[in-house]
Amino acid sequence: MLGTLGRTYIQHCLNTDLRHITAAYGAGAGARFWVAEVDGCVVGTVGVRPVALVLKRMSVRRGYRGQGIGTALARTALAFAAQRGCKAVVLNTLMVQHEARALYERLGFRRHRQYVLPTVYGYLANCTITMYRYELDGSEGNGPALGGGDWGTPTWTQ
Ligand SMILES: CC(C)(COP(=O)(O)OP(=O)(O)OC[C@H]1O[C@@H](n2cnc3c(N)ncnc32)[C@H](O)[C@@H]1OP(=O)(O)O)[C@@H](O)C(=O)NCCC(=O)NCCS
Repeated sequence: MLGTLGRTYIQHCLNTDLRHITAAYGAGAGARFWVAEVDGCVVGTVGVRPVALVLKRMSVRRGYRGQGIGTALARTALAFAAQRGCKAVVLNTLMVQHEARALYERLGFRRHRQYVLPTVYGYLANCTITMYRYELDGSEGNGPALGGGDWGTPTWTQ
């Protein structure tokens, strides 16, 4: 039983990231793939990849909303994550953040998980948080989110 599982797992690895190591691990600053060699033979491997980038603090000043700034900021974050080789971008929204939820869904984010805010207030008010997820490896067919917007590329400070 374990042997079959092991063989299935190895076959899966050989058909996915190990098939294109450079593409899977060499694309961004957060990813690396190392091998251990003895007498010129690879005897060990290990890889690291940033799994998901967390999008936070999305906000546009009231008088400037509805002009595409939020969309441009979200696209910038998605492009950055893709460049770094991340698998997905995730974020949390409150149920009252209607504009934000519409924006994320229009860009191709999918509802991933929903839970009640884990505080006394959260339980009393039944305040739910929705976690959204945007797959960057194309596995769930997101919409075309990475194109340019009218606002070009916003600048930010770290
Ligand atoms: C969510 C938020 C960042 C969106 O920013 P934005 O610059 O208004 O986003 P966009 O202009 O790219 O898109 C907003 C959508 O609302 C529509 N809209 C039109 N007039 C609008 C207005 N006066 N105010 C807000 N949205 C308007 C836009 O047309 C657009 O929809 P569409 O592309 O289908 O036409 C902004 O509403 C905000 O700061 N909200 C409060 C903070 C918040 O909830 N953050 C999310 C945390 S997860």
